[in-house]
Amino acid sequence: MIYQIYVRSFADSDGDGVGDLPGVRSRLRYLRELGVDAVWLSPFYPSPQADAGYDVADYRDVDPRFGSLADVDDLIREAHEWGLRIIIDLVPNHTSHEHRWFRAALAATPGSRERARYIFRDGRGQGGDEPPNNWGSNFGGLAWTRVTEADHTPGQWYLHLFTPEQPDLDWTNTEVRAEFESILRFWLDRGVDGFRIDVAHGLAKDPEMPDLAGHYAISGPAIEGHPHWDQDEVHEVYRAWRRITDGYPGDPTFVAEVWVASPQRLALYLRPDELHTAFNFSFLLAPWAAKALRAAVDESVAALAEVRAPTTWVLSNHDVIRHVTRYGGGEPGTRRARAAALLMLALPGGAYVYQGEELGLTEVTDLPDEVRQDPSFHRTAGAEPGRDGCRVPLPWSGQDPPFGFSPSGASWLPQPADWAELTVQRQESDPGSTLTLYRNALRLRRELPALGDGLMRWIEAGADVLAFRREPGFVCVVNVGGAPAEPPDDVLGADAVVLLTSAPIGSDGRVPGATAAWYRTG
Ligand code: NOJ
Repeated sequence: MIYQIYVRSFADSDGDGVGDLPGVRSRLRYLRELGVDAVWLSPFYPSPQADAGYDVADYRDVDPRFGSLADVDDLIREAHEWGLRIIIDLVPNHTSHEHRWFRAALAATPGSRERARYIFRDGRGQGGDEPPNNWGSNFGGLAWTRVTEADHTPGQWYLHLFTPEQPDLDWTNTEVRAEFESILRFWLDRGVDGFRIDVAHGLAKDPEMPDLAGHYAISGPAIEGHPHWDQDEVHEVYRAWRRITDGYPGDPTFVAEVWVASPQRLALYLRPDELHTAFNFSFLLAPWAAKALRAAVDESVAALAEVRAPTTWVLSNHDVIRHVTRYGGGEPGTRRARAAALLMLALPGGAYVYQGEELGLTEVTDLPDEVRQDPSFHRTAGAEPGRDGCRVPLPWSGQDPPFGFSPSGASWLPQPADWAELTVQRQESDPGSTLTLYRNALRLRRELPALGDGLMRWIEAGADVLAFRREPGFVCVVNVGGAPAEPPDDVLGADAVVLLTSAPIGSDGRVPGATAAWYRTG
């Protein structure tokens, strides 16, 4: 299981209210006890934080908010001592506007080598006053910003698929390619075990840069043929990267963030000479409904089998509404989220857990506007609530905020008072807590040869029930519906033993609504 640490919200060691790398290091025991195999760290590089660190000003250093290079070295070393692998976040689609390359591009002239690292174009219309095309930023507004040239005249426009502080790099430029290959080596030489690739489907753009029209929303999801998402040219980049990691000991791996139109398109990134794994967002996006969940599982398993890549499963991350809330919130949401966790952890392949889901944290929906930091909130004048609600710092201990997150009273986003019930400290000693459920599930996942990689076979057990077998001797039954369901007794056999359930099962053996059960069979 790979555990996503959103560094600024995990643990703060120095009391500034922002989590940091020494904070992560101080909690390695927690990760080990939870049953984590690898940790993915969100970006910790020097950054003006226009997009919480996904605007990188220097790819070979650490922002003082989060620590120093020495802290990364210490963290890697100590994590390895605990048997944990470290995956870092690589952001190749765009830099920060404060990156030395972009500063140089602004100071240089149109047509210069400095501008050629980014996507600068002349504007359309009289005096070049109109943007080069109608593409929109993912966070609202235009995807183009006009610069003022050195002679103070209005100048060219540059592309930014995210905020204006995140100018897109031009990946047809060999200098850009060489730079990132060198960055990969820099971190591999320091001992990291892999990379999560940000916006891996965005690097290549249609050189014609056509206006978006018809079924392509101006800022919208990847659809086949889209001019800036999932262009075929992107695969060359990953083939070159794979050649680099293959030359390092310890099997460093890539996990790609790819939002593409279908599992078939996703599979292209996972061909044997490309990336090792990718997030499987079709599972995350599926509603709490048996048919939809089963279809997401089936399509993913089938598409990835074609390229012999392992499937991965994820329910939450720092960009989406936490799944307790997505599944309805309150008691029903928590119940479903617990069942979904046992479903995910029983499926074949790898699983990603986003910090706090093991505590059953909810989306914080009532953050006051003035504390919100996500650019998508500010760039849409609040029309989009943004992603701060899933990024609230973790509650570790105690009765009051910041619940052990920070040694001072500070916390960069306020935590709800009722998280006193959800602290690690409180849940550790509660056999019925979500933390205990995750720990037990992850322990079984390590112990049982049937779990993790391998095959699965569905068992037909009713329209609202997802049931499947893993060999040797394991069955998972998830009742997605509301009414109790009969377990598939003919498959389970008389000797079946209940290993773990997400909610108590009655003495009649029926699986209540929104409940998952793991069985050992004969
Ligand atoms: C995906 C990251 O997960 C998200 O947080 C970020 O805003 C965008 N990429 C842009 O880098």
